[in-house]
Amino acid sequence: MMQRAQTTLTHPSDPPAARPGPKPAGASVNSNPAENRAAASLPVVLPGVAPTDVHPEVDAETHILTVDNFKLAYGKRQTLHGINMKIAGGKVTALIGPSGCGKSTLLRSMNRLNDLVDGVKIEGDMRFKGQSIYDRNVDVIDLRKKLGMVFQKSNPFPMSIFENVVYALRIAGERSNARLDEVCAKSLKSAALWEEVKDRLHSSAFGLSGGQQQRLCIARAIAAEPEVLLMDEPCSALDPIATQKVEELIYELRGKYTVVIVTHNMHQAARCSDYTAFMYMGRIIEYGPTEAIFVRPHLKETEAYVTGRFG
Ligand SMILES: Nc1ncnc2c1ncn2[C@@H]1O[C@H](COP(=O)(O)OP(=O)(O)OP(=O)(O)O)[C@@H](O)[C@H]1O
Ligand SMILES: [Mg+2]
Repeated sequence: MMQRAQTTLTHPSDPPAARPGPKPAGASVNSNPAENRAAASLPVVLPGVAPTDVHPEVDAETHILTVDNFKLAYGKRQTLHGINMKIAGGKVTALIGPSGCGKSTLLRSMNRLNDLVDGVKIEGDMRFKGQSIYDRNVDVIDLRKKLGMVFQKSNPFPMSIFENVVYALRIAGERSNARLDEVCAKSLKSAALWEEVKDRLHSSAFGLSGGQQQRLCIARAIAAEPEVLLMDEPCSALDPIATQKVEELIYELRGKYTVVIVTHNMHQAARCSDYTAFMYMGRIIEYGPTEAIFVRPHLKETEAYVTGRFG
């Protein structure tokens, strides 16, 4: 059964709005204990019985990435149960859902990072621009260049700020210093970090604050010119100001890049994404335009989650 926790969702950061976005209805509902009790008795459909509710707007998009009946087990623990999902090209798609529901697993599966886990069992497939991601002939290194990843915990390399940013170009054999300088400056500007580091590009990346290190990792991901950016809670370690900068960046990246972002912060999902998928226990429960998911969800389960009535 779906759990009945009545706890209010925690919002680790609640920065000032990067742009006007739909306001999750939770704030007003949570403050009313009588309504919370009523919400706890909402009829819930058993996961597995409920088909995914995909809003028609999702299907009407042009899709760059599709997930086809994708199942994943860590050993005997079935974690993803036949996920079907289409990701719109050039848009920002947020994955939300309670801790442990499989958001990171699904995201990491998109560039095959779960291949590295011992005992993992995968069925189904994903396709990037129509090409199988899980075909045995796929060049995984090349795939990860096209689908870049930004992790929850920043992971700068033990080298200078400059070398961190141009890492992918160095690996690719780029020799032109002018080109490296250009990409470094452009990527750091895109990641809203340039002004803070332009005078110390050749100092160690470890001398940066946590929030700066995270933006550095975003700059490094952008410099590699991926087509899709996969971001797993990129702001969870950031203060409200840095979070706002990253959210503005994500908002600006749309059009140029496709972004898939995992977040626990409902406000963040509402502010910076076009589409939102609500996951629960290894399934996508409802998937639609972000505003609809937060303001007019089709399913009671989605409403209960986005208004903070379980999670
Ligand atoms: N490498 C792994 N080996 C074994 N089990 C794993 C591994 N990674 C995740 N799991 C399990 O898979 C399930 C889904 O985990 P996942 O990290 O995808 O959840 P999540 O939705 O991202 O959660 P959170 O919001 O806490 O980050 C959990 O039960 C977790 O314990
Ligand atoms: Mg996670």
